[in-house]
Amino acid sequence: LEGLVVSFWKGKKVFVTGHTGFKGSWLTTWLLMNGARVRGFSDGVPTQPSMFEALELSKRCEHIEGDVRNLGRLRASVEEFNPEVIFHLAAQPLVRESYRQPVLTFETNVMGTANVLEVCRGLSSLESAIIITTDKVYQVGSKNSRAGFAETDRLGGFDPYSASKACAELVASSYRSSFLSGVPIFTVRAGNVIGGGDWSDDRLVPDAVRAFSKEQPLVIRNPGFVRPWQHVIDPLRGYLKIAENAANLQSESFAFNLGPPLKQCVPVLEVVNGFIKNWGAGARWEQASKELQAKETQILTLDSSLAEKAFGWKTQISLNPALQLTAEWYKTFYSAPEKLTGLTEKQISEWGTDR
Ligand SMILES: NC(=O)c1ccc[n+]([C@@H]2O[C@H](COP(=O)([O-])OP(=O)(O)OC[C@H]3O[C@@H](n4cnc5c(N)ncnc54)[C@H](O)[C@@H]3O)[C@@H](O)[C@H]2O)c1
Repeated sequence: LEGLVVSFWKGKKVFVTGHTGFKGSWLTTWLLMNGARVRGFSDGVPTQPSMFEALELSKRCEHIEGDVRNLGRLRASVEEFNPEVIFHLAAQPLVRESYRQPVLTFETNVMGTANVLEVCRGLSSLESAIIITTDKVYQVGSKNSRAGFAETDRLGGFDPYSASKACAELVASSYRSSFLSGVPIFTVRAGNVIGGGDWSDDRLVPDAVRAFSKEQPLVIRNPGFVRPWQHVIDPLRGYLKIAENAANLQSESFAFNLGPPLKQCVPVLEVVNGFIKNWGAGARWEQASKELQAKETQILTLDSSLAEKAFGWKTQISLNPALQLTAEWYKTFYSAPEKLTGLTEKQISEWGTDR
């Protein structure tokens, strides 16, 4: 089966937006391992340091700098490449940033998605497009979310980031029914991803890594908040499987949840303690002052049974190995960066194949 999967990707032309980001760098590495030809399109490298630079991915794929809000530039880059598969990951992906920059967030996440779909209309060889949204697209409060949102539940979102991603879902649905009926366009909803290579602001593991690498304590605002954690390899394996099975999946659904099971929905503190254990000496945490603590938002879980039924996907990496893989990646970055490409590929081949 593994051989079959690799042969699906061998020589395939794959266009990835947001390839310089955390998930995009993992996806690009994985596609290259499988023999795909990757053209990436991003507006720069989002963080310093970054996985994209650490793995020297600009030398290993066709790296294009461009803004998804610029339809003309996007169209030229996609049409010239004529891809068979498109993964759209480019986004303003941070909730707190979306409060600071709501218009930019809507422009990037809604119009960026409309532009990608508009460009899809002119492609002769396109087999599928996978639009990455988030578990935050559902209307919290519309049901007891502990039971897990299903793909057919109501879309919504309070903060600008969540709302922009719910809008992206509607844009995809409209393009699918108005213009792209022959092409499988999927939206995929996953969230709270951990793994090596993330240096974004306001995310727990990157905050921990920044603190521990300077032998400072990690300051935690809300140790009791429960979140659904998953290792980045798990949702990415789902994205790839959707593209591999695109033709058959159309009759099942055009949207898929890829969330972890309920036992992986644990408090921040449990994740921090697990990460500290794997990091070793120099890692500790302390509680932030009262003013910095936020009000608990309702915990959000996904019902991912449709993905399991339709293409045999479920979470394979439970929390402890996920934290182990993550700590191993960052420790290698700080101690032996020349080994990172090998380590990333080893983590993907050990944990990214169906068990
Ligand atoms: N990391 C998570 O926990 C998580 C959870 C749910 C959903 N997602 C979604 O997954 C996708 C990738 O997230 P990530 O964590 O890798 O984010 P990231 O910030 O690491 O990467 C974002 C990428 O988008 C690119 N980008 C941003 N604005 C752009 C623009 N205007 N034009 C072109 N490129 C632009 C950046 O250059 C970067 O390559 C996003 O769509 C995000 O909403 C992430």
